[in-house]
Amino acid sequence: MSEAEPHVRVEKLVKIYGNRTVLHGVDLTINRAETLVIIGGSGAGKSTLVRHLIALERPTSGNIIIDGTDISSLSEVALARERRRFGMVFQKYALFDSMTCFDNVAFPLREQTKLSERDIREKAMQKLKELSVDHAANLTPAQISGGMAKRVGIARALVMEPELLIYDEPTSGLDPVTSRTVDDLIEEMREKFGVTSAVITHDMVSAFDIADQIAMLIKGRVVAQGTPAEVLDHADPSVQSFIRSSGVDASRFAQRRPRSPSEALAEKAIARKRARVADAK
Ligand SMILES: Nc1ncnc2c1ncn2[C@@H]1O[C@H](COP(=O)(O)OP(=O)(O)OP(=O)(O)O)[C@@H](O)[C@H]1O
Ligand SMILES: [Mg+2]
Repeated sequence: MSEAEPHVRVEKLVKIYGNRTVLHGVDLTINRAETLVIIGGSGAGKSTLVRHLIALERPTSGNIIIDGTDISSLSEVALARERRRFGMVFQKYALFDSMTCFDNVAFPLREQTKLSERDIREKAMQKLKELSVDHAANLTPAQISGGMAKRVGIARALVMEPELLIYDEPTSGLDPVTSRTVDDLIEEMREKFGVTSAVITHDMVSAFDIADQIAMLIKGRVVAQGTPAEVLDHADPSVQSFIRSSGVDASRFAQRRPRSPSEALAEKAIARKRARVADAK
């Protein structure tokens, strides 16, 4: 658990489906307590890439090293243990249709913790409230709007307070005001718990508000990774035109809220993790 080693390191990741190469040797790092935003056109391989980070996909070749462990070579049993430390907000929110929204959010707590039903109720309701969907607690996903279902999906991913959170287009289909509250939540998870995040988005306002690093993917290749300022000034014209076509420019940074330095948050996150490991013994 070295502080200097990135939390996530992707090395030469290749993914081939049939005869189609979707990822062509992707290299990527995410430092602990930082937010990496992944941008790129439709079909570039963004969702495929992040699915590898939580081992929902196995690489054709290459390595996914999380917290010093190469998860691409772990057995299913070992993976099940690792996955508790990851959370994922899916592009198509993936809620259980037959359960109420409350039960969807309570599900990971019931499956993976020994909390009492009372504590589960409190935690799940708290998260639904933070996402302003507590009024939908007793409805099923079919009875609520797409935007609400998205927020329930986010509540379910946050309720376990994971170390690594992956968001696949968390603000798509949400109105601008709700989108900014999702950005606030991603920031809050970082500030409060030192969470490391990977966020896929087509929402450039969101990207430039929350990113420590931005990676741009074109046709299965990372063509740029750097700070928002670096990516905005990137020499590659395709990176430039992709970002500028969204209307975002350097003036956006002036509006960014102050953020805690990631080194300090990372230290807190590691201390929390050590305490948890000690508790489990
Ligand atoms: N299980 C699979 N089998 C075959 N092809 C797949 C599979 N999953 C993804 N692909 C292909 O990989 C390519 C990249 O898909 P992916 O979903 O990763 O793109 P994306 O960048 O997330 O796009 P979007 O912005 O539209 O969500 C697509 O051409 C897709 O058809
Ligand atoms: Mg996608």
